[in-house]
Amino acid sequence: MTVVQDIKSRTDIVEVVSGYVALQKAGRNFKANCPFHMEKTPSFIVFPERQSWRCFGGCATGGDAIAFVMKAENQDFAQALEHLAQRAGIAIPTRQPREKEGVLHQVNQATVELFQKVLHSPEGERAREYLEKRGVNQEALSTFQLGLSPSGWDTLTKHLTGRGFQAQDILAAGVALKDDKGNMRDLFHRRLMFPIRDTAGQVAGFGGRTLDGSNPKYLNTPRTPAFDKGRILYGLPMARGAISGTGVAVVVEGYMDAIAAHQHGFHNVVASMGTAITEHQVSALKSLASTFVLALDPDSAGQEATLRSLESSWQALQIDFLRAGGKSGVVFNQRHLSASLKIATLPPGKDPDVLIRESPEEWERLVSEAKPFLDYLFEALPPRFDLTDDEGKLQLVDSLSFSIRAERNPFTQRRYMRRLADIVKLSEADVEARVGRPQERNPQRRQRGETTPRAGASPLGATHRDLREEYCIHLLLLHPELRERGLDIPPDCFELSENRDVFTRWTVCSTMEEVQESLPEGLAEHLQAILATESPPLDRKARERALEEAVNLLKERFFKVQGQALLEQLEGADWEDISSLEPSLRQSNEINRQLRELFSGSSPATP
Ligand code: UTP
Ligand code: MN
Repeated sequence: MTVVQDIKSRTDIVEVVSGYVALQKAGRNFKANCPFHMEKTPSFIVFPERQSWRCFGGCATGGDAIAFVMKAENQDFAQALEHLAQRAGIAIPTRQPREKEGVLHQVNQATVELFQKVLHSPEGERAREYLEKRGVNQEALSTFQLGLSPSGWDTLTKHLTGRGFQAQDILAAGVALKDDKGNMRDLFHRRLMFPIRDTAGQVAGFGGRTLDGSNPKYLNTPRTPAFDKGRILYGLPMARGAISGTGVAVVVEGYMDAIAAHQHGFHNVVASMGTAITEHQVSALKSLASTFVLALDPDSAGQEATLRSLESSWQALQIDFLRAGGKSGVVFNQRHLSASLKIATLPPGKDPDVLIRESPEEWERLVSEAKPFLDYLFEALPPRFDLTDDEGKLQLVDSLSFSIRAERNPFTQRRYMRRLADIVKLSEADVEARVGRPQERNPQRRQRGETTPRAGASPLGATHRDLREEYCIHLLLLHPELRERGLDIPPDCFELSENRDVFTRWTVCSTMEEVQESLPEGLAEHLQAILATESPPLDRKARERALEEAVNLLKERFFKVQGQALLEQLEGADWEDISSLEPSLRQSNEINRQLRELFSGSSPATP
C-alpha cells in the first residue's frame, strides 16, 4: 500500500468535509450548499461509499478527500496529503537524507576516476582509437572526463570496496547490481563512459556507449536518489557560463552532440539525453536563458511524443516565468516574458555531431535561423489532419489554439490566425471565434470578471459535436467495468455542456437505464446519438487503453485551457499585491503538476 492509499484508507471523507460545511443526510449520501461557489440549493454531494465528493452545480468539480482539502485549504497535493496525514496520525516518510546522496556522489566520483584510468591504460587502446576516429580531442576528453569501464565482472565493485565504500552504497549509486546468486556485479563492461553531472556539478550517473555493437547502444545508470535522467541536462555545468552570457541555450539530443559542440567553441550547448525535453530540464535553464533552441533530429521532429512534450514544456515555461516574477516580489521582469522557444530542424541524416564536424558555419546558421515554436507547429501539424473535412479542420484549429492564444504580441497573434485561416480555408472571423480573442490588455475589464471568450461556441456549425468527449461517454456507458476509472475524470474535462451533463448523471446513476431515464428530452436524443456511434470492437484490455487515451486527451485540453485562463489573469494582475496572487500561483503549480503527470504517464495517486 502506498502512503497515499494508507492515508486515504484512514480518512473518512464525511468527517473531513463536515469540518467545513454542514452536511445533510440524503439517502446513502450527504448533501450541502457547495462551499466552493455561491448557491441557494444544495448541489454538493458527498458519497461515503466511494469516499468522494462532487459539485453538480456551478463549479462542477469533485474528487477524493485530498482534492477536497486542496481546494478548501488552497493547498497543493503534498500539503493536502500532509494535512490529512496529521489528522490520521500517520508520519509521511521524508526523502532520503542529504548525506545519503552525498555518499552516492562520492561513489560516482571514485568510479569516474577508475574509468579514466582504464581508458588511458593499455586496456583502453581500442577505445582511444575509436575516440580519435570520431574526432574527439584531448581537451574535450578531459573536460567531459570520458572513460572506459573495465572488462571484468566486478572490477569496479572490488575497486570501490577497496576504497572503503559499503556494498549498499555501491548498489544504491547504480554502478553495480546483484545477480541471481547474490553476487555483486558491475553494471558497465567495456563501454565508453560519459559521466553525467547534475546542476550542482556532482556526478549523478553515467551513460555508457557500446564499442562492439552490443545492445543497448547506450546503457545508462538507472534512476537513483542522485540520478533522474529527466531532470538533468548533460553538459550543463560546462555550459552554464556561455548560456547565461549569451542568453541562449541550445539543446541537442546526444552526449556526442554536446561534446562536439563544445569542442568547436559552441559552449552554450547541453544534451537532453535522447528523450524529449522535460519541464524539469526547461526549468533548469530558465534562470539562465531567455531563448531556447532545440536542435531536433529530422526524424524525431514530426513525432507525436516530441510535439506534445514540447508543447507542454513550453506552456509550463510561460506559467513558470509568471510565477518567478511573482515570488521574487520585485517589478515584473519583462525579459522573462519574452522567453522564446525555437526549433532548429537538421538536414536529413545529420545529427549535430556530424554537422558540427563537417561544417561549424552551417551549424551556426541553422541555430541562428531556428524557427519560433509556433512556426514549427504550423509546419508540423497540418499534414496530420484531413483538411478536406470539417472535423479535420476543427481538430487542427483546436490543436493550435492554445499556442496561438499564448502568443503575447497581438500583431503576431493576428498574423498566425490569418495563416491558420488560409490553411483551413475558412474566414479569419471563424478561426478567431474558435481560437479566442487576441490578448486583451485591459485590466479593468478583467477586474469586472469578464474574460476572453473561451473556445467552445462553434464557428463550424451549430451541430458541433466533440467526438473525443462522446467516445469517452460511449465507452463508459457500454462497459460498466470501466466505471472506477471513469469516476476519476474531472467533469470540467467535458467542454460541451450536453456531454458534461450526461457524464455527471452517469457518475451518480448505477445503470445505463437510470441514466437514460434521468435525462430530459433533448439530452436523451443526444445520448442515443452517442450510443449509436459505431466504434471498433475491442477486447477488455484494449478498451481500457482506449479510455485511458481518450481521457488523457480531454485532460490535457482541460489543463491547457485552465493554464491559459490563469496566464491571462496573472498577466493583468497587480503584482504589487503579491499575496492576492498566491491562490492563482498555487493553482498554476497544480496545473503544471497535472500536465507533468499526464506526460510522464504516472498515476496521480502516487506522486
Ligand atoms: P543517438 O543514438 O543519437 O546517439 O541517441 P548519439 O549520442 O548521437 O551517439 P553516436 O553519435 O551514435 O555515438 C541520442 C541520445 O539518446 C540517448 C543517449 O543520451 C544518446 O546520447 N540514448 C540513445 C540512450 O540513452 N540509450 C540508447 O540506447 C540510445
Ligand atoms: Mn550521433
